[in-house]
Amino acid sequence: MDKHYPNFAFKSMSFIFKLRDLFIPPEEILKEIEIKQGYKILDYGCGPGSFTLAAAKIVGSTGKIHAADIHPLAIKKVRKKVARKDYKNIETIQTSCEIGLDDESIDIALLFDILHELSEPERIIKEVHRVLKKEGKLSVTIHHIKEHKGVEIVERTGLFKLENKGKKTHTFKKITQL
Ligand SMILES: C[S@@+](CC[C@H](N)C(=O)[O-])C[C@H]1O[C@@H](n2cnc3c(N)ncnc32)[C@H](O)[C@@H]1O
Repeated sequence: MDKHYPNFAFKSMSFIFKLRDLFIPPEEILKEIEIKQGYKILDYGCGPGSFTLAAAKIVGSTGKIHAADIHPLAIKKVRKKVARKDYKNIETIQTSCEIGLDDESIDIALLFDILHELSEPERIIKEVHRVLKKEGKLSVTIHHIKEHKGVEIVERTGLFKLENKGKKTHTFKKITQL
């Protein structure tokens, strides 16, 4: 079972991500994935919400972003941003694994910069597989571990197959014949 990091570590990370987002805007990275208006997106391990907010602009008022994180400060931060900009299409979920969404209800799931932190990645990948629609995609960014290792973590579950490699993202299709 994962534990969230100390508050100071989360706050430092949030500050660093502000700078990161100035150099490489989240919107640019999301262009690698075919997010459409009206899509339902899961941003699992949303952190301070850089990709949550960027995706919310793309899916528009008919879509929805479910922003999930283990850290109470992530949930607080995303909610604060949602309130400030009056986003109506973002919901937060505080969790270390179970997402609580319906089966096959999500078009695209993001696992961005989180794989390396998971003590039991297969549990979370299984839960993501459950909520993704049959044609749904899993998009992953791999950090702090070798790229092939990140791909292997996802594929060894037998639930996803790498479909496309972008500059920053790896997109996997859902395997439905289990
Ligand atoms: C390095 S941050 C990445 C944040 C965001 N995805 C981004 O790229 O800007 C990883 C996030 O995953 C969260 N996290 C780690 N383990 C988790 C778990 N088991 N369940 C949910 N969230 C988790 C952390 O709290 C942290 O906010």
